[in-house]
Amino acid sequence: MNNVWTDVMSIDDTFEGEVTRLDTQNKILAIYNVNGSVYCTDNVCTHGNALLSDGFLEGHEIECPFHQGRFDVRDGRVTCEPADKALKTYPIKVSDGRVFVDLSV
Ligand code: FES
Repeated sequence: MNNVWTDVMSIDDTFEGEVTRLDTQNKILAIYNVNGSVYCTDNVCTHGNALLSDGFLEGHEIECPFHQGRFDVRDGRVTCEPADKALKTYPIKVSDGRVFVDLSV
């Protein structure tokens, strides 16, 4: 199946080692820049009503600000409890300085 890409932001609006909140098409997403590679997940923690964009990004792991649950931003899997349900991830790419996300998945 082909991806349906939506232009969501400039790569210059992301910062290496940081997570950025992105509100688009009724979704609250988190965009991560890890050593220049970008990843996208749902922003709301699967364990509670916390925004991961308020958390801490360490390598490929995002730590939730509420109970310090952790997720791997590459595939959404839980890497530290108390979180126990994986985060939804979205295909993402960078082209000509723009960030594109497939919101159709
Ligand atoms: S709300 Fe995120 S770990 Fe509890």
